[in-house]
Amino acid sequence: MKTTLTAIKADIGSVGGHVRPSQRLLDSVKEHVHQHHHGLLIDYHVSYTGDDIAVLTTHNRGESDEEVHRLVWDAFQAGTEVAKDQGLYGAGQDLLKDSFSGNVRGLGPAVAEMEIEERPNEPALFFTADKTDPGAYNLPLYLGFADPMYCPGLMLSPKMSGGFTFRIMDVSYTGADKVIDLNTPEELYDIAALLRDPERFVVESIYNRSSGKQAVSVSTTRLQNIAGQYVGKDDPVMLARVQGEFPATGEVLSPYEIAPNVAGFMRGSHCGPLMPAKLNSKVSYFDGPPMVSCAAYCVHEGRLTAPVDIFDHPFWDEVRKRAADKASDIRRQGFFGNAMLPQSELEYGGIVHKLEDLESRFTIRSQ
Ligand code: 13P
Ligand code: 13P
Ligand code: MG
Ligand code: MG
Repeated sequence: MKTTLTAIKADIGSVGGHVRPSQRLLDSVKEHVHQHHHGLLIDYHVSYTGDDIAVLTTHNRGESDEEVHRLVWDAFQAGTEVAKDQGLYGAGQDLLKDSFSGNVRGLGPAVAEMEIEERPNEPALFFTADKTDPGAYNLPLYLGFADPMYCPGLMLSPKMSGGFTFRIMDVSYTGADKVIDLNTPEELYDIAALLRDPERFVVESIYNRSSGKQAVSVSTTRLQNIAGQYVGKDDPVMLARVQGEFPATGEVLSPYEIAPNVAGFMRGSHCGPLMPAKLNSKVSYFDGPPMVSCAAYCVHEGRLTAPVDIFDHPFWDEVRKRAADKASDIRRQGFFGNAMLPQSELEYGGIVHKLEDLESRFTIRSQ
């Protein structure tokens, strides 16, 4: 029997700016899922990362299942009422459409899903990130699945020596899903050529080439494409199966030591280091720094073990300290150069109007 993992997350309101949801808001989402999950879900877990609430569910109903998506959508709607009642900031921020239609894709919430044939033991990682966008996972996925410097299993394990297929989406294309499949190791340079531009090209999924089995699913939502204007960053979730024919947990995690600079710091308009944070962490400095959390599970007949907090370890304290130093460093140059995102990515309409006004005031000097 197949098991489906469905992770859906949204920002539906937070305390003190874009910091974290209130306890009452979290409880209301949990309570809604608890009340309505019978006969639908096998298991679920509700968590938060910064101002985003994630609902991880397991079931046997396949991907994009209307009833599963509706349950989480309704839980977010119920939560939004609580957020309004408490006067939370950005109540209902990521629920961009008024009514539910079929599934939550295109309605605002981020979705990562995988239907799997469970292995006898099925270790899986659930990543949630805040103050960044789906391209933030590009570099860790490239290094963790395609570079033996980070993933020695590519050399050591015959189950992985056939390489992986990266399915990459061009998220600037709004008409429909535009994707390309590229294989490691032969097409590494092509993969790198796309993944270097994380605002446009995003890893959507990864598959073991020998077995065809799916290892990774990343949410690829661009809120801007749905709303037509800035309404918040596309804080992404990711599911990754590990061990056996996939990289070991530690191999998938190893690139997060880099704390690479990513998009999404302050007003979704700045670059900053991706800080590995403990589960259920809030946001602070300069509405950031961008952060990623990771819960490790074993899935068995659809049941989830209690999550293990992967970045709650002394090693990551050192990485967090270095990420804080990197954040202070890049902040020292304020709006200048690569501290801010390129013009095309600036999340505020205001600066566009400002530049249009200034354009009309330029004069062309005759030679
Ligand atoms: P498996 O290849 O059996 O998953 O184990 C490898 C491992 O855990 C190395 O860290
Ligand atoms: P969120 O996308 O996490 O709501 O953050 C928006 C923002 O503008 C923070 O400065
Ligand atoms: Mg917010
Ligand atoms: Mg957020």
